[in-house]
Formats: sequence, C-alpha cells, structure tokens
Amino acid sequence: MAKEQKNEVMEKVVALCKRRGFIYPSFEIYGGFAGFYDYGPYGLALKNNITNVWWKQFVTDREDVYGIDSALVTKKEVLQASGHARGFADMLSECEKCKRRFRVDHLTDTKKCPECGGKLGEARQFYMMLETHIGAAEDEASLAYLRPETAQGIFTNFKNIVDSFHPKLPFGIAQIGKAFRNEIAPRDFLFRVRELEQMEVEYFVKPDAWKEAFDLWKGEMKRFVSKIGIDVAKVSELEIPEADRAHYSKRTIDFEFEFPFGKKELYGLAYRTNYDLTNHATASGVDMSYMDEETKEKIIPHVIEPSLGVGRSLLAVLLSAYTEDEMNGEVRTYLKFKPSVAPVKVAVFPLLKNKPELVTKAREVYGTLKKEFGAVMFDDNGNIGKRYRRQDEIGTPFCVTVDFDTIEKDQSVTVRDRDSGKQERVAIAELQSFLKAKLA
Ligand code: GLY
Repeated sequence: MAKEQKNEVMEKVVALCKRRGFIYPSFEIYGGFAGFYDYGPYGLALKNNITNVWWKQFVTDREDVYGIDSALVTKKEVLQASGHARGFADMLSECEKCKRRFRVDHLTDTKKCPECGGKLGEARQFYMMLETHIGAAEDEASLAYLRPETAQGIFTNFKNIVDSFHPKLPFGIAQIGKAFRNEIAPRDFLFRVRELEQMEVEYFVKPDAWKEAFDLWKGEMKRFVSKIGIDVAKVSELEIPEADRAHYSKRTIDFEFEFPFGKKELYGLAYRTNYDLTNHATASGVDMSYMDEETKEKIIPHVIEPSLGVGRSLLAVLLSAYTEDEMNGEVRTYLKFKPSVAPVKVAVFPLLKNKPELVTKAREVYGTLKKEFGAVMFDDNGNIGKRYRRQDEIGTPFCVTVDFDTIEKDQSVTVRDRDSGKQERVAIAELQSFLKAKLA
C-alpha cells in the first residue's frame, strides 16, 4: 500500500474512534495534551474486553500465575535499584535554531534539524521518568516517580507472594496497570503515549530453565495475538541485538506489527535474568532468595517477562478490524471485531420507532438478550439503514430487528450478520441459543 493510502487508513481510524465514542484526545477543550488519550464508552468496553482476555489466558486459566495490583507512585529507591533512574533515558539532540529536541535514533541526518534545517547540537541523555513529590516539601528527599513499568511493583512484591502462597518454581506474578513515560515525541495516536497501560508477567524460573520458559511465553503471546483478532499476517518477530536491548535484558524478542506508519514494536518478551531481584536485595538489604526444596539450595530466581501494551493492542485490533466494502451500491465502513472483543455484541431494533407494539416487543427481546449477553444495545434512532451503518462502524456482530411479521405472524425476528450483511429469520424462542453459538 502506498504511504498516502496508509496514512489515510490511520486518519480514518482515528476519526472513527472519535466520532463513534471509542477514543478522545485528552483535555481537548483546552487544546489537547500531547501523548494523552481518554477512552469513551466503546473504547473502554474494547479495552476491558482485551484486558479480560489477557487476564483469563495469562492468569486465571493457569495454576502458576498470581495476580496483583501495586502502587503507581513509586519510591525513588526502587527505581534507583532497578537502574531506571540512571538508565531509562533517550539520547536527544537539540536544534540550535528552533530549540526543538529529537531522538537521535529517529533521525536520518544527525547534524540537521528535520523541522527547520538548523544545526543540531551534541546528543545528550534525556530522562524519561515522570517525577512527583510526596508530602509538603519539594526537595530531593520527597522525590518519587510515576512508575515507568508495572514490573517493579511485581519485583517488590516477590517476597510477599512467596511468603503468603509458597509457590513452587516456576511461577509468575502478573499485573495490568498504568505506566508513565515522558516521551519526547509522542506520536501515532495510541502508539507512543506518555500515559500507557501494560499487561505484564514476571515468570520466575530456575536459572537453567529460562530457555524453556522463554519459548512457553512466546507461544502464549502468539496465541493472544490471534485470540483478540490482530491480523497475524502483519505480525513478525525480531531478535533484538545486545546494543539495543534494555539495560536489564540478556535476550529480547519484539513482536512487531505492520502499522500504517511502519513496522513497529507491538509487544516485548525479555529474559531479565536475576538482575532485578539481585539489585533489590542489595539495595534494600532484604533477602530475595528462594529456597529450592529439591536441591536445598537458596537461589535468586531468573525471570522471563512477556510485556504487552494495552493501547498498542487496541490500535492493532482496530487496524486489523477496519474494513471498507461495498454494500447496496454504497461504500460501507465496518469494524470486523472478533465477538469476544466487540464492545457491543448485539443490537436490537424495532423496525419503526412510532409503532408502540413493535417498540414494546423489541424492548422485551432486548431485555432477555441483555440478561444473557450484557453488552446489548437498544437502538430506535433514525431509519434502519442508518442503524445498521452505526452498528457496523462500532463493530457489532449481530443486529436483531422486530417487525410486523414478528407480532402478526411468526414470533420470529430478523438477525443480520455484520460481515456478510445477510439476514435470516430466527424464532424468538431460539434466539438466545442461536446468538450464543454465533458469539462463542
Ligand atoms: N517491563 C518492560 C517494559 O516496560 O518495557
């Protein structure tokens, strides 16, 4: 696809997200705030569906993973020990003329400003953690950070989980939550933001078992990609060379996705060795070792970390689902979501809004389906064509219409399939089981 066409797709998806209530730029009435986004009702539902699929697959379906939810504001000692306070930085160059700053790894010419053509200064480190102060005084002693990754809250709870649950190795600790990065150039919608959400597992293993665990989580990540409806043909793996790996990693694979703006990191899988636990043990003075009951030896477990971004998942799902076709001689836009992530599963309409008998019956059908499926919507706005278009754009898999035949003849309704646009009559008595099978 040509570059303009790809940008056009991105623009269309961004516009659809705003128009239909998925995602809004934060604080837009004050001119926006670069790198921050708010989720509207459908975006929130889509996000929750994605995180629920992840939590089920990575935590509740397993016997060996424990879920936690740790503090976002992080004591500075934690991030000093983890290496983030000195290592979590980008190399930047500042333009001597326009004073804009650029990431060196994003520049094609490291001497010339890509905006104004001015001379770029020497590259220097720019720290990415967001700082805050806790308590009354704003000094070095009260300095704290908004966490740059959910992982550190997991490492600092390692001993708590071992003491409360006595898990056998290998076992994991998982968390979904916000993380913050002062990105110098937030861009590409949800791709590079300053407030993000992560889904991470730290999987603790015996030192010689890391390769097996790395493969296990690689497989689980692939399974997740297809489960939430990301186009697997657009996903590839990239082995990250040592020079480009995070300071804690001995091996990293990125799962990349072909975004319209280029092939970029979707998820990361890292072998963090025992770097974090060792550093926290040294800095805190607390013993972070684990007693291996088989060998009766104390070891510091090694760690495999599948790290997945919620926003990036959402963007890849939206881009994979975005489809244009022709229906009844008109261009139609729809989101081909998998039913498991679709914000609305079924919409119910009365054929005409001003016929009380149709509205009453449609409300009755809606009530029954809502009890069963939860995310069911009643819609009687505009004509039926407009309602279909609205539901297609938010990716609702099925629309159910109550018409005159329903009441006068057959106690059946019309069920329309989003992707094919085909309609079939289904008896109300069988509607629940019919939709249940289709939405499974
Ligand atoms: N925990 C890995 C990352 O935040 O990239």
